[in-house]
Amino acid sequence: MTLPSPLLQLTDIAKSFGAVRALRSGQFELRAGEIHALAGENGAGKSTLMNIIDGILQPDSGSIRIDGHSVRIDSPAMAQRLGIGFVHQEIALCADISVAENIFMAETAQSRRRLMGGADLIKRAAEVLAPLGDIDPRLPAGRLSISQQQLVEIAKALTLDCRILILDEPTAALTEHEAQKLFGIMRRLADKGMGIIYISHRMAEIFQICDRVTVMRDGQHIRTDRIADITPADVVNAMVGRQLDALYPPKLAGPRGPEILSVANLTDRRYKDVSFALHRGEILGFAGLIGAGRSEIARGVTRLEGNARGEVRLDGAPVVLRDYADCIAKGIVYLSEDRKGDGVFLDLPIAANVSALDLSRVARRGMVDAARETDQAQRIGATLKLKAASMAHRVASLSGGNQQKVALAKLLAVEPKVIFLDEPTRGVDVGAKAEIHGILRALAESGVGVAVISSEMPELIGLCDRVLVVSEGRVSGELSGTDLTETNIMTLAAPGAISGATALSGTLA
Ligand SMILES: Nc1ncnc2c1ncn2[C@@H]1O[C@H](COP(=O)(O)OP(=O)(O)OP(=O)(O)O)[C@@H](O)[C@H]1O
Ligand SMILES: [Mg+2]
Repeated sequence: MTLPSPLLQLTDIAKSFGAVRALRSGQFELRAGEIHALAGENGAGKSTLMNIIDGILQPDSGSIRIDGHSVRIDSPAMAQRLGIGFVHQEIALCADISVAENIFMAETAQSRRRLMGGADLIKRAAEVLAPLGDIDPRLPAGRLSISQQQLVEIAKALTLDCRILILDEPTAALTEHEAQKLFGIMRRLADKGMGIIYISHRMAEIFQICDRVTVMRDGQHIRTDRIADITPADVVNAMVGRQLDALYPPKLAGPRGPEILSVANLTDRRYKDVSFALHRGEILGFAGLIGAGRSEIARGVTRLEGNARGEVRLDGAPVVLRDYADCIAKGIVYLSEDRKGDGVFLDLPIAANVSALDLSRVARRGMVDAARETDQAQRIGATLKLKAASMAHRVASLSGGNQQKVALAKLLAVEPKVIFLDEPTRGVDVGAKAEIHGILRALAESGVGVAVISSEMPELIGLCDRVLVVSEGRVSGELSGTDLTETNIMTLAAPGAISGATALSGTLA
């Protein structure tokens, strides 16, 4: 008996961008009916390899075979004809047109008809979206939350009737519940014979959903194993090429210090009577379901959106925060969950991003001094282990996780007093994640007020000393020590978690 040829076979793929060797020898094999994880640190070359399969990039050398036949994939349109569907790491919907039009973009473009509002299109879009979540296909895509946009990107790929589906970190912006739904869909597609390539930094997901895993490091193939034959620790070690120490830094040992920032009865349209304090030495977490109001609260305090009322004290004294520029001047900064939207300037060099919030730090006689700007980026980049060949490179040329580090470096450059971080390690690999956690711990120890919003339970529990749970725009509880468990967080996060009594006392306070 001869085994059938693999659905897809990549051999010895190499790709350089100028001096950067993104891929040295990329190897990958995908069989029909399998979900195959591709794991590796930020910058390992995963997305580059996938972009080659999708015809976005041409390899410098190496071969691609589909069903045993050698192919040249010179464009995404060609890839689509070969049955390849790709959900990209970065969301790229057209904000101004409807969800339905986004989903059927390729088709609409071909038929050259504007189908906005077409009842048939809406109906078909609703059918594709139904198993994924509750999303109105008539809305302009720009009105959706990040997680909904991600689901639309997935729906879009599902309409393409492909045999090979590539998912590049599809769950980075999804809730646990949405992710589980996606896994159900993936399994059904694989059972029908589709081959799925799944990129994720989350070991638990890889081990839950995948059949095999390939690990890459520094643009090279390291190993491919059946999930049943390997442990998460083996995968992590193969990724980082060394034994990784503890995943989370130690928590605050002694008593916490005095209040740095306190917020009392913060109220706006989406939340009500929110009170909390950040203390020296501790990391405060914000838990809650997507849409509970966590980001809105942080963006309300920092004046990035809405018009929140309430009292804010900095180092014990009341402060008036007029707008975000005023917050920055007073040392209160916010790291956006939407890296592409307002975290970094993709088209600007790394150095210009890092200096963006306070140019006076890199100026000489009123002008930006390029050498100082580069020095600053290099210094802060080094503490974050930013992987970039030059500080003059555009942020767009960095891998996803390294873009996240630039977003963080931009905030650290102003030496903040208080830092709100919204999903700070989204898309960041295990090693870099541990580094960022260590940096946040060090910031807290050095006297910076640190607040972390995260949708990843293990991160909240592993990193934070105290966690506030937000449910439907109110603080439904506070957890610390041995009470800080997933079950307790989930209970408090559920809609309706706030009893009438708590809500009432909150109003009267
Ligand atoms: N267009 C480009 N120009 C220059 N360098 C690039 C470009 N695209 C990727 N690179 C570089 O190639 C290397 C591999 O990047 P790639 O995006 O494939 O990593 P990745 O494994 O997908 O990482 P992540 O997990 O962070 O998404 C990185 O060093 C990156 O900076
Ligand atoms: Mg990537």
